[in-house]
Amino acid sequence: MTTTPTSPSPRSPRQLPPSLVATLPGHYYTDPDIFRQEQELLFESMWFCAVRSADLAKPGAFRTVRVGRESVLVTRSRTGELRAFLNVCRHRGARLCLEEAGEVRRNLQCPYHAWTYDLDGRLVAAPNLVKMPDIDRAAYGLVTVALREWLGYAWVCLADEPPSFEETVVGAAVERLGDTAAIEHYRAEDLALGRRISYDVKANWKLIVENFMECYHCATIHPELTDVLPEFAHGYAAQYYVGHGAEFGEGVQGFTVDGGAGFAKLPGVAEDQDRRYYAITVKPTVFVNLVPDHVILHRMFPLAEDRTVVECDWLYAPEVVASGADVSRSVELFHRVNAQDFEACERTQPAMSSRAYRRGGVLVPSEHHIGIFHAWLMRRLGARPQAGT
Ligand code: FES
Ligand code: FE
Repeated sequence: MTTTPTSPSPRSPRQLPPSLVATLPGHYYTDPDIFRQEQELLFESMWFCAVRSADLAKPGAFRTVRVGRESVLVTRSRTGELRAFLNVCRHRGARLCLEEAGEVRRNLQCPYHAWTYDLDGRLVAAPNLVKMPDIDRAAYGLVTVALREWLGYAWVCLADEPPSFEETVVGAAVERLGDTAAIEHYRAEDLALGRRISYDVKANWKLIVENFMECYHCATIHPELTDVLPEFAHGYAAQYYVGHGAEFGEGVQGFTVDGGAGFAKLPGVAEDQDRRYYAITVKPTVFVNLVPDHVILHRMFPLAEDRTVVECDWLYAPEVVASGADVSRSVELFHRVNAQDFEACERTQPAMSSRAYRRGGVLVPSEHHIGIFHAWLMRRLGARPQAGT
């Protein structure tokens, strides 16, 4: 009897055992066209956490930040409010500010033909404008971008009609903690920056989100974290959806690299929040971690289909930072977690274009949050005809 050799075909997602679910196919992490759709339908349509408000301390301070395909300019106005504009001169389109951060005394002046805008974006001067009486200065101010402040950060939205901030940012975050006041107890907006580390990760932003959403990998790659939070060693926790509060291990005194004591509990933190770690993801690009004596906030800046900058802030009580106390042992714990996570993401990125991953991989049951994230992403991308909503 002869048999016809057949080449093994990859298992289709439909053939997976019912307990396993397929991931997205590999090209979702490598295709520039899909990344462009994500820029348009996610980063340019949703509220995007752009800058820490306190980084713009004085009137005249400004920051430029990339949001989707746009450069956004955030300024502190003369009257002390934050404003956001597209970083584009209305004359002939020159980039108004090239620096990532800076400070002006009074106005922003375009380096090309010197059109000048005040910190509220109004066109206040332009050479020879008196000879052009028809120009409507009010109509040629900088293009305003919606801005809201929450947790001590400025969130911007490029959509013509931004979605409800209360529902899509505050509500979505709070819902995951299961208690409307839980996150407010930490008063993140009153905290001071103890440390900021920026990570340039050679991986698609979704690999970073997916990694944040599961703790299946915790026992393998996070020895320090699982020492402090023993439940993470079991792999069932969703590392970054810890709404119930993961309890510190016995003998652990604080959320530090060796489990040694941290600082005094933040004043608003409730008794039942003490010795616990909470974490939430605010889609699409923010992760917030809450522990009794500090808050860790990650902001992602997806720059290309295979490159994401992650800026991580460690926030403490102002008196801790003012006293010059050594925060390095608590910073070191999550810095190691970040380094371990981002190394894993960078290890995964090259394989996304392998034929082995053409149909994607699989999710085990404890990774079910990733499946929910994928369903959400597909809904957003499928909603393309309603771009801008
Ligand atoms: Fe800005 Fe001409 S492009 S002044
Ligand atoms: Fe991790």
